[in-house]
Amino acid sequence: MKRIVTVFASSGPRHPSSGPRQRWLHRLVLPIFGALFAAVNVLFLFNNKNDPSTTTFITSNQAHTSQRYPFVPADVIVQCGLVEHVNLKTLPKPLTKSLGFVKPHKTGGSTVANIVNRIVWERNMTKMIPSDYTYLGWPTPFPGNYKSIESVNGSGIFRFDAVSNHAVFNADAFRTYLKEPALIFTILRDPMERAISAFHYFPPYNSGNYTWQHFIRKYKNTTYIKTWDQAVHVNPMAYALGWYHLRPPLPSDNNKSKMKGMMWTTAFDHNKSAIRDFIKKVEDEIDLVMILDHLTESLLLLKDELPQLEVTELLWSDFKISGKGASGDDTGGTNNRKSHKIYPTEAERQELSNMMLVDQMLYDHFRDKLLLRWKAKEERAPEETRQLKNGLNCLHETVTQLLATEKNRLPKRLRICLSQDSPGFTHLQSTKQQRVNVGN
Ligand SMILES: *[C@@H]1O[C@H](CO)[C@@H](O)[C@H](O)[C@H]1NC(C)=O
Ligand SMILES: *[C@@H]1O[C@H](CO)[C@@H](O)[C@H](O)[C@H]1NC(C)=O
Ligand SMILES: *[C@@H]1O[C@H](CO)[C@@H](O)[C@H](O)[C@H]1NC(C)=O
Ligand SMILES: *[C@@H]1O[C@H](CO)[C@@H](O)[C@H](O)[C@H]1NC(C)=O
Ligand SMILES: *[C@@H]1O[C@H](CO)[C@@H](O)[C@H](O)[C@H]1NC(C)=O
Ligand SMILES: *[C@@H]1O[C@H](CO)[C@@H](O)[C@H](O)[C@H]1NC(C)=O
Repeated sequence: MKRIVTVFASSGPRHPSSGPRQRWLHRLVLPIFGALFAAVNVLFLFNNKNDPSTTTFITSNQAHTSQRYPFVPADVIVQCGLVEHVNLKTLPKPLTKSLGFVKPHKTGGSTVANIVNRIVWERNMTKMIPSDYTYLGWPTPFPGNYKSIESVNGSGIFRFDAVSNHAVFNADAFRTYLKEPALIFTILRDPMERAISAFHYFPPYNSGNYTWQHFIRKYKNTTYIKTWDQAVHVNPMAYALGWYHLRPPLPSDNNKSKMKGMMWTTAFDHNKSAIRDFIKKVEDEIDLVMILDHLTESLLLLKDELPQLEVTELLWSDFKISGKGASGDDTGGTNNRKSHKIYPTEAERQELSNMMLVDQMLYDHFRDKLLLRWKAKEERAPEETRQLKNGLNCLHETVTQLLATEKNRLPKRLRICLSQDSPGFTHLQSTKQQRVNVGN
């Protein structure tokens, strides 16, 4: 099972610009294998009654065995001081809001998407499935090609419980496909850290043959965003939040576009008043902007928006530590290959900052806002907030450690869920939704 999961986790189509052969692989062969492995995992997740490592849960200091969600071992919950904060007497509580997660590249988006996927899975919710399991239109407008579900009353658009794959945010379009009311949220990351992460992740710069000078020369004077690599390197967070799509291409521009409709002007990228207007718009339309550099605080603020969540559901995984090649890992928090990384010099950082002014202003604004919200929470309930923060950090560290050293102490079900990157989990979810539909 472990090997299957590993292979499967790297099966998603990733780089829309890869060569024809790779594209063929991505489009045909890998999805087919992916679907097969997904089916195997779905069978496992559905028929899990005899898992020998069935979790022992504890409530009010009284231990009893249970199959109940979220399958975090009782001793870990106790060790992390969370007994008082975890209610394991019931099934996961239904959410009162649907989830619209805007997922930028290399900002911790996969980590959060994994949490969303687990929430959706355990509550039998429906998620909008991209046809390629990865992109809901991105870098072109949302929603692109997706697997539709027939509307219950046979008319109109089916509204989903969740959207969490890469997409370009558009409030009206998101709300068209999400059940009301919707919670819209996203995650941003320090733009320089993000750029360094992206440089080492995406081809061709990840080959080790390139310097930051190559990168800067290529992207500094970008006048139009018209390829996927520009969309992941030039203000990519603003891109995902819809900054460039605010100003649709002119028909004459469109003729120069390789990808249909991909011709977004960068003419406003240094216009601070336009950027401030955009920040205001994002603030109005997005309920919570999380910050990877303050992930624990961000996740607990997410729980404040969705009080039905258990703190254990916010457990996040760090794929890199388990040494699986980290195809979907975006956490960037721990980095075990630091020594091989190439860092920009001070002068190069300045050029990069200048290039990414929109992202920098967005980040600064929403980081300050998040920290203020956190401070208010701490002032409201200092003791509880401290326990939750320490407890969640402890859950993460303990489970990460167990994954690396004593996997078998964790229930298989939890391990599978934590090891799925976004395309992987989306395959699983898709198969499950199909089964449920066929069953009805
Ligand atoms: C989800 O569906 C499964 C299988 O039908 C069922 O056993 C489970 O109780 C459901 N979960 C919730 C939260 O409704
Ligand atoms: C039924 O269709 C209408 C649109 O025609 C839609 O607004 C509504 O959400 C649908 N109801 C359900 C339960 O899907
Ligand atoms: C890096 O450059 C060397 C020398 O030009 C070349 O032989 C090698 O194939 C390159 N590696 C990659 C991954 O492009
Ligand atoms: C790129 O833009 C800079 C200003 O930011 C300008 O000085 C430089 O001449 C431009 N380079 C090219 C090749 O257009
Ligand atoms: C753009 O392409 C269309 C045909 O696809 C052509 O009719 C039109 O003249 C072109 N516009 C420009 C400005 O080149
Ligand atoms: C900056 O953007 C605003 C729109 O937000 C526009 O009115 C103004 O002309 C722009 N300024 C420049 C120098 O392009």
